Amino acid sequence: MGSKTIIILVILFVSRFARAMKDPDSLDDFFRDYACAKVSRPKTGILYNISMPANFSGIEIMFIRTKTRNFWRRGANFSTFQIPPGILPMPFVKRFDLMYQNLGNWSSYYYNVPNYTLVTPIVGLLFYNATNSSTRNSKLSPVVNKDPILVHFPQISVSENHKNVSFQCARFGANGSVELTNMTLENACVTRDQGHFSIVVPSPPPAAKKREKFWKWWVVGFGVGIVGLVLVAFLGVVMCKFVKRKRIGQMERQSERSETLDTIWVGMSKMPSATGIRTQPVLESDYVP
Ligand SMILES: *[C@@H]1O[C@H](CO)[C@@H](O)[C@H](O)[C@H]1NC(C)=O
Ligand SMILES: *[C@@H]1O[C@H](CO)[C@@H](O)[C@H](O)[C@H]1NC(C)=O
Ligand SMILES: *[C@@H]1O[C@H](CO)[C@@H](O)[C@H](O)[C@H]1NC(C)=O
Ligand SMILES: *[C@@H]1O[C@H](CO)[C@@H](O)[C@H](O)[C@H]1NC(C)=O
Ligand SMILES: *[C@@H]1O[C@H](CO)[C@@H](O)[C@H](O)[C@H]1NC(C)=O
Ligand SMILES: *[C@@H]1O[C@H](CO)[C@@H](O)[C@H](O)[C@H]1NC(C)=O
Ligand SMILES: *[C@@H]1O[C@H](CO)[C@@H](O)[C@H](O)[C@H]1NC(C)=O
Ligand SMILES: *[C@@H]1O[C@H](CO)[C@@H](O)[C@H](O)[C@H]1NC(C)=O
Ligand SMILES: *[C@@H]1O[C@H](CO)[C@@H](O)[C@H](O)[C@H]1NC(C)=O
Ligand SMILES: *[C@@H]1O[C@H](CO)[C@@H](O)[C@H](O)[C@H]1NC(C)=O
Repeated sequence: MGSKTIIILVILFVSRFARAMKDPDSLDDFFRDYACAKVSRPKTGILYNISMPANFSGIEIMFIRTKTRNFWRRGANFSTFQIPPGILPMPFVKRFDLMYQNLGNWSSYYYNVPNYTLVTPIVGLLFYNATNSSTRNSKLSPVVNKDPILVHFPQISVSENHKNVSFQCARFGANGSVELTNMTLENACVTRDQGHFSIVVPSPPPAAKKREKFWKWWVVGFGVGIVGLVLVAFLGVVMCKFVKRKRIGQMERQSERSETLDTIWVGMSKMPSATGIRTQPVLESDYVP
């Protein structure tokens, strides 16, 4: 038990909170970089289905390199996204990559709306310049001139207590922004921008949630309490040791002082010296039988 254990405890706590604050924008960058690394020279018009590393299994990533002129004229059907003609990525580039994401069971790990529940996986549609340089400056923004983009959701999974609630379309933009709109089409949402999409329903009554929150605070409080106790115990041990050492030092000094009569200095070193000789030497020759 020592400072090492405490440091490990603190790190465990911090990393738990860090995990909960995962940034979806950097996840996009990671996927883009990963796809670029997997396909070194993409051909125009080919659908690339990127297999994800084991620690991201359940996530689907695809991209297609497109000529801007053809895209503007014809639009595209890209997985669950139906993109009509008349959309132009800006700033203007000759070719761009259309990136599709389906986060599957990772959806609520990265995205959520307060007081709402996701009832579909998160799907993403993103525009990137067709360049193999860094992700950060290859992002483009689509400009919709006519019809909007349609996002189909083939499966909506609602639990029993959500059967009669109104569905909302959620769009997650950059910097953690969320837009909610009433769902007007069956199993589909419309959008005039790129981003991440899902259908959400209002969460169940707040009573259950409140208790959960309360419970959570209890757990957090308990954890903090334990860490505090450990810290106090540790400090206590350290203080005890310090005081003990001080006292021993004092005692040593005191005993040294009381022993001054019994010590002598020889050069630079202090030596104990006996004051008297207990048994007097007796000369053997003195013995007369
Ligand atoms: C992409 O690959 C995954 C498996 O790696 C497969 O489940 C999925 O159906 C593929 N998608 C398409 C559009 O081919
Ligand atoms: C998965 O592994 C990659 C490196 O291969 C790493 O960059 C990424 O953060 C890992 N993701 C998770 C969720 O652990
Ligand atoms: C996409 O699908 C819709 C409906 O199925 C169809 O009307 C449209 O022509 C398709 N677009 C392309 C570019 O294939
Ligand atoms: C999603 O499912 C895969 C298995 O299909 C699993 O390996 C992965 O850990 C799951 N992800 C999450 C966030 O639960
Ligand atoms: C969620 O609901 C609770 C009570 O129902 C409310 O106090 C809170 O402000 C809501 N949060 C958001 C982000 O709307
Ligand atoms: C797009 O990428 C090309 C290289 O493929 C580059 O010449 C051009 O400057 C880039 N344009 C933008 C707007 O990033
Ligand atoms: C892009 O890739 C090609 C071939 O792989 C290479 O010749 C070129 O220098 C790369 N450009 C950048 C900006 O990395
Ligand atoms: C469910 O919705 C219908 C109309 O859409 C309404 O008549 C009915 O009262 C609702 N049921 C409940 C339990 O809210
Ligand atoms: C996100 O934030 C950055 C800097 O904080 C800003 O430059 C950018 O315009 C923002 N994007 C959106 C879509 O709000
Ligand atoms: C969304 O739907 C609710 C009822 O479900 C309605 O009261 C509200 O006015 C609608 N909002 C818009 C912008 O249509």
